[in-house]
Amino acid sequence: MKKVKVGIVGCGNISGIYMQNLSTMFANTEVFACADTVRERAEAAAEKYGIPHVWTTEELLASPEIEIVVNLTTPIGHYEICKSALLHDKHVYVEKPLSLSLEHGEELTRLAREKGLMLGCAPDTFLGAGLQTCRKLIDDGFIGDPVAATAFMLNHGHEGWHPDPEFYYQEGGGPMFDMGPYYLTALVSLLGPVKTVCGMAKKSFPQRTITSAPKFGQTIDVEVPTHVAGTLEFISGPVATMITSFDVWDSTLPRIEIYGSRGTLIVPDPNTFGGPILFKPAGGESFAEIPVLHSHAMNSRGIGVADMAACITSGNIHRANGELANHVLEIMHAFHTSSESKRYAELVTSCERPRPLAPGLIQGIVD
Ligand SMILES: NC(=O)c1ccc[n+]([C@@H]2O[C@H](COP(=O)([O-])OP(=O)(O)OC[C@H]3O[C@@H](n4cnc5c(N)ncnc54)[C@H](O)[C@@H]3O)[C@@H](O)[C@H]2O)c1
Repeated sequence: MKKVKVGIVGCGNISGIYMQNLSTMFANTEVFACADTVRERAEAAAEKYGIPHVWTTEELLASPEIEIVVNLTTPIGHYEICKSALLHDKHVYVEKPLSLSLEHGEELTRLAREKGLMLGCAPDTFLGAGLQTCRKLIDDGFIGDPVAATAFMLNHGHEGWHPDPEFYYQEGGGPMFDMGPYYLTALVSLLGPVKTVCGMAKKSFPQRTITSAPKFGQTIDVEVPTHVAGTLEFISGPVATMITSFDVWDSTLPRIEIYGSRGTLIVPDPNTFGGPILFKPAGGESFAEIPVLHSHAMNSRGIGVADMAACITSGNIHRANGELANHVLEIMHAFHTSSESKRYAELVTSCERPRPLAPGLIQGIVD
């Protein structure tokens, strides 16, 4: 099988799992080069994962050998690097969120379309075994007609473990932009695009104290809302209630539940690739675990990139695509704008539900 050459820009915290999986898990990708403004990080990553080239970002974007650029910089760098990659005629896959502003998200999707290139965006957890099995259960009518859903992500932020946590409290951060993409991408894959959003958002603490190394004791000024609650109406009919928060120490709320006319489906944590999946049928006595039918139950970050690589030859539409990410970006903004305006936000973007994966594929093969 042909291996598509991938260049990774940004060799920080999340990059290791991409480097590992795109080098060893997926049959159709290889990591050919990496770049980081802190060159030692790129050199250490190249050494650890056997990546042949350490280049500057500009060299990597300009290299005729690279077919897909994977942009793993912090949110503030997403737009510029994606745009530059597209202008260098590269397919590009970026960590979430697609960009900071709606204008930039729209510009990137338009540019990719005009140039006939693929723009992909994390998360790709919705392509994992757990969420794909849930997708099949819903598509096969197992839960009946979806009526409603809940999605809850509450914790106390990332300053207790991330070495450079400032970006989580700047524009493009906050619980909605950081963790919302997992929940919203999963919901859109399961239920289709969203029509209307109603949100309320607040900033409970103006400053956060870092308790991780090496910046222990430093404070961060919080620039974005850190508790975001609201309601979503899907075009297909269901209504979902959602909370994302970095202001809560702990909670017993479930991650995602889908309520169907024939029973309740408990969906696995959308920041993971596996199960468990639980279902309780109408009139049933208790929840029972449903076996996971699909492959990629282990940490398969990068499956969205491998899917793009497969689509270079098949001509299919890649699943973790820019239209989906741009719709998710608009939903996230809508929670905040609805809160500010105290009005419902009617969405202007939409997207197709990404094609489901077939059950029982071999690990590392996407189609
Ligand atoms: N850390 C996680 O657990 C995690 C999980 C999922 C997704 N993400 C997402 O991944 C992205 C990166 O997060 P992270 O935690 O790895 O951040 P990080 O700060 O640890 O790493 C980002 C890296 O990008 C480099 N960089 C910034 N601008 C650059 C440029 N112009 N050219 C080259 N390198 C540049 C930085 O030097 C840094 O090494 C974010 O969008 C985040 O939301 C992170």
